[in-house]
Parts: sequence; C-alpha cells; structure tokens
Amino acid sequence: MENFIRAVPKAELHLHIEGSLEPELTFDLARKHGVTLKYPNVAALRAAYDFSDLQSFLDLYYAGADVLRDEDDFHALTTAYLRRAHDDGVVHAEIFFDPQTHTARGIPFATVFGGIHRALVEGEREFGISWRLIPNFLRHLSADEAMRALEELLPYKRHFAAVGLDSSERGHPPSKFAAVFERARKEGLRTVAHAGEEGPPEYIVEALDLLKVSRIDHGVRCEEDPALVERLVREQVPLTVCPLSNVKLCVYKRIEDHNLKRLLDRGVKVTVNSDDPSYFGGYVLDNYLAVQRGLNLSRADMAQLARNSIEASFLDDASKGRWLAKIDAIAA
Ligand code: HPA
Ligand code: ZN
Repeated sequence: MENFIRAVPKAELHLHIEGSLEPELTFDLARKHGVTLKYPNVAALRAAYDFSDLQSFLDLYYAGADVLRDEDDFHALTTAYLRRAHDDGVVHAEIFFDPQTHTARGIPFATVFGGIHRALVEGEREFGISWRLIPNFLRHLSADEAMRALEELLPYKRHFAAVGLDSSERGHPPSKFAAVFERARKEGLRTVAHAGEEGPPEYIVEALDLLKVSRIDHGVRCEEDPALVERLVREQVPLTVCPLSNVKLCVYKRIEDHNLKRLLDRGVKVTVNSDDPSYFGGYVLDNYLAVQRGLNLSRADMAQLARNSIEASFLDDASKGRWLAKIDAIAA
C-alpha cells in the first residue's frame, strides 16, 4: 500500500512553507545570523512541538520564522520542502506563505518572494514539480493591515494563483476580510481561506458567500451543518484536509476519530495535505498513510484522494487530464 500511495501522482494543496522549517535548518540559520534560540538543541526544539490547540502551535510557528532573514534562507526552506515532497510522489504543489510575518520584521516582500520563487523555478526543473504560490493574510491582524499587504503584493500578482487567509481562526470570521478579498478578486486573483478548522461551520459559509473562495482549507467542521455538507457536495467545493495537523492541534483526539472517510463517502471533494509538516510530524505521504491505516481506507479510496487533489488544484485542464490518466493507469 505504501508503494502504491507513493507512486500515485498527487498534488499538495495545503502547505505553509514556513511550516516546513525543520529544527535542523532553524539551528543552521540561527547560527548563520547570530540569533540565540530559546532551546539548547534540535531535540529540545522538537520536543516543544506538543500543542493543545491552534494558538499554541502558532506561537511557536511565528517564533520559528524569525530565523528566516535573507533570500537564501527562503530558498533553502523551499528547496528542502520540494525535495521531500518529490520523495513522496508529489507532482504539483500549491504553496502558502505569510508575507506579513516577514514584512512586520523588516524583511522586504521582494526578499521573501525572491527566495521562494527561485527555489520553485529550480525545483520544477530538477524534480518536475509544477507549482502555484498563494500568499495568505493573517486573520489575527486587522483588515486594514491585510489591505496594505495586498497592495504590496499586487505588483507580483502574475506569480500568484490566489490569495488566502490563515492564522488564529476563532473570533476572526471571514467577513472581517470581505473588502480585501473583493479587491483581490477585482485584480483577477482567485481566493481560498482556512475555515472550519477550529471555527464554526458558519465561517465556511461566510468564506463561500462573502470571500467567494474556490476551496476551503480544512473545513472539517462542516459536518456540524448537514445543509452545508449537502452544498459542498452539490457545488463540489474542495476541502484541503490535513489529518495529522488536526490530531496535533487536538481538533480530533485520534486519527481513528477523523471524519475524512465519512466526508469522502458522502461525496465531498476532500484532499489530503500536510499543512505544517515539520511541526505536525509528517509530510504528505505520512498523512495519506495515517488516514489509510487509521480509517481503514481501500486502494480505491486512496486513488480517489489523489484524483481529488489533482481536480481541486489550480492546474490547467490539459495538465489535470494528463495526471488523472496516470492515476487511472496506476490504480487499474
Ligand atoms: N491554521 C491556521 N493558520 C495556520 C495554519 C493552520 O493550520 N498553519 C499555518 N498557519
Ligand atoms: Zn493551514
């Protein structure tokens, strides 16, 4: 089964590049920049990855990002992810980054973008991984700050497939960012948003109705609203589900309790992704394997998850068709 899952072409659609920062690279970069970390060594830092909820993770995740200072750092971070994703059979990656986390520390947007973009272009050549980039706005900050971040990224908009929304969900509904997302759509950008991870199903409805999102990131709490689940099936709205993340952040106690299989059987277009793999204990293959074992998924289920990931991507139709044909050939 592991070989089958690895061999099936997969798209990763929910990956925060800052969340792929492995402790070893954190220490390398801290040394390079003369930064003193709160932890004495890699093992101690890794041991701190024990979270009670989304906020307890975000506190560490934002602190960790502080070692990313120059273009080469963002390049090294992105290259490390692509190498790892390639090993897992990822053929297409749609990558989130958080511009405000860096610009707030005085790192120019051009530095962040330049390092990530250079690695993606090189990675496509070396690993054959196609890509899209999606800057996210931090929802714990104000809508005015998000609007300023949008203005700053617009000169680069041809490089972005969409804009997204992440960070602390509860108390920061999608409605707070309606004007920002409207502006982004007027500029020709698609939209996605984290919703229904810790927040209520109403946030998913808001993301669809007010932000006009093409996908929902997480979205697992949709199940609390049967009419919403029906809508997600009818409109085939993809959910970028992150199973190991959900367990690490205590959305579910155990992987066996996850609702991915129920949603899949119901006809929701669910996909499997790693979110912040360094912090949550697994890259995309680990996530596929965790749900396969924990929820007793069949080969057909795994192939369907891979198919969903391609269909839910922002690839062009011809590329989607080619990957879907390959999946069918392997799954036959
Ligand atoms: N949820 C919200 N914000 C985030 C996440 C997440 O899973 N990962 C990185 N920022
Ligand atoms: Zn996320």
